[in-house]
Amino acid sequence: MADAYQKLEAKFEELAALSHAMGILGWDEQTMMPEGSGDERNFAQAKLAALAHRMVVDDETGELLERAVEERLDHWQRANLGLMRRARMQASALPSEFVERQHRAGMKAEQMWRKHRPANDWRSFLPYFEQNVALVRQEAELRSAARGIAPYDALLDLYEPGITQTDVDDWFAGLASELPELIMRAEERSRATPAQPPPGPFSIAAQQMLGRRAMEALQFDFDRGRLDVAVHPFCGGAAGDVRITTRYDESDYVESLMGVIHEAGHAQYEQNLPVQWRHQPIGAAVGMAVHESQSLFFEMQIGRSAEFLEFFAPALAAAFPHVDASVWRIENMVPVYQAVRRGLIRVNADEVTYPAHILLRYAIERDLVNGSLAPADVPERWNAEMGKWLGLETTGNDRNGCMQDVHWPSGAFGYFPTYTLGAMIAAQLADSFKREQPAWHDDWRRGDFTGVREWLSGTVWSRGSRLQMKELVAEVTGAPLDPTLYLAHLRARYLG
Ligand code: CO
Repeated sequence: MADAYQKLEAKFEELAALSHAMGILGWDEQTMMPEGSGDERNFAQAKLAALAHRMVVDDETGELLERAVEERLDHWQRANLGLMRRARMQASALPSEFVERQHRAGMKAEQMWRKHRPANDWRSFLPYFEQNVALVRQEAELRSAARGIAPYDALLDLYEPGITQTDVDDWFAGLASELPELIMRAEERSRATPAQPPPGPFSIAAQQMLGRRAMEALQFDFDRGRLDVAVHPFCGGAAGDVRITTRYDESDYVESLMGVIHEAGHAQYEQNLPVQWRHQPIGAAVGMAVHESQSLFFEMQIGRSAEFLEFFAPALAAAFPHVDASVWRIENMVPVYQAVRRGLIRVNADEVTYPAHILLRYAIERDLVNGSLAPADVPERWNAEMGKWLGLETTGNDRNGCMQDVHWPSGAFGYFPTYTLGAMIAAQLADSFKREQPAWHDDWRRGDFTGVREWLSGTVWSRGSRLQMKELVAEVTGAPLDPTLYLAHLRARYLG
């Protein structure tokens, strides 16, 4: 009788119910909540988070975890127990007084960032940034001591379990050696290819219809999910009730449509996790890099492919009858969707220049956490890295330089690498998928995505957290994560 283990499953079921409630509250906060209710919502969310934290760290959970190790368990249960132990270690690594202090400092720094970024005022923001860096160094030390791993590794591990700085250095070095030349050549080629972007305005009603149409084609389950509007697009809610959001701009429909396809990728992962393990840690998504690999598989591998564009062109033509039919020709639309331009802003970056924005942030945050870079020296370092990767200058333009992202002001260090690791994983998965299902060209042109969904479901979604990212990639593709497949994808699409 696995008595202790069964009690733990019951406890983690309660935690899953709390997390479901917090997910829907978080979605509501960003889509529906009246502004004046913010304080009350923060109060409720903080109390629920504290309750969940107490349930993981209390003595009873500790005793049950110790007893369950001795019990007879099958493979999934054993792995689930490992994730429960991990959750407890993460939750108890930091004293609650420290968590409180860091939370307040992060909220304050984020407020100050919102105030000083529009004014390009790095000097006034710096003291709050210094405080955040000091606290994250402490956090990394505390987590490092609790887990027995290096400080920056302990932060990476929060977002993608099992990856280390050595791994990331290795993967990114393979990318770095070829990226600058690839960017130069891809931009040259893109500039030399004449393309006529469809002229606006693009009505919001038509864009809503198109987003829905794309989600239907990709078989998003509208019975267990919704699409709404939010300032910052995200995928939230709960696995059995997934909420995705987008925003609309009448002068540009591509950003919203591609955003919907991206979030639909995140959503399908959540919607198709193993149902029998729904309320246990093993039934959850692995980590943020794998999550991003699913959204980027949808957005970059499918959504920006010539095949998808060919399938979707009639829907675009019908939605925007004011646009001349010749604009929707595939020879025109491919260069429009696959344009490459170096720029200062990460969130506006195309597929080829995006990884450069991540390589530079990774190098800077790694050095900040490890103590070899002082917060005050970040603008200078940022400018040097921008010059090295993209040939651009940010001196005196911190608003569009090191102050552009919310991550560091809010206290999130170790997150940035997951964006580009997600793109690398997506490219490697796509490479395997295309070799296994050579009929994908014709399927996608016809708007039939059943094959690719079934493949992703069998290889990734149905596994939950059974395998960590490195094992998952090796198991599915037969080889460890390898940047050369990602580079091959970029070369084939942008230089081919
Ligand atoms: Co994403």
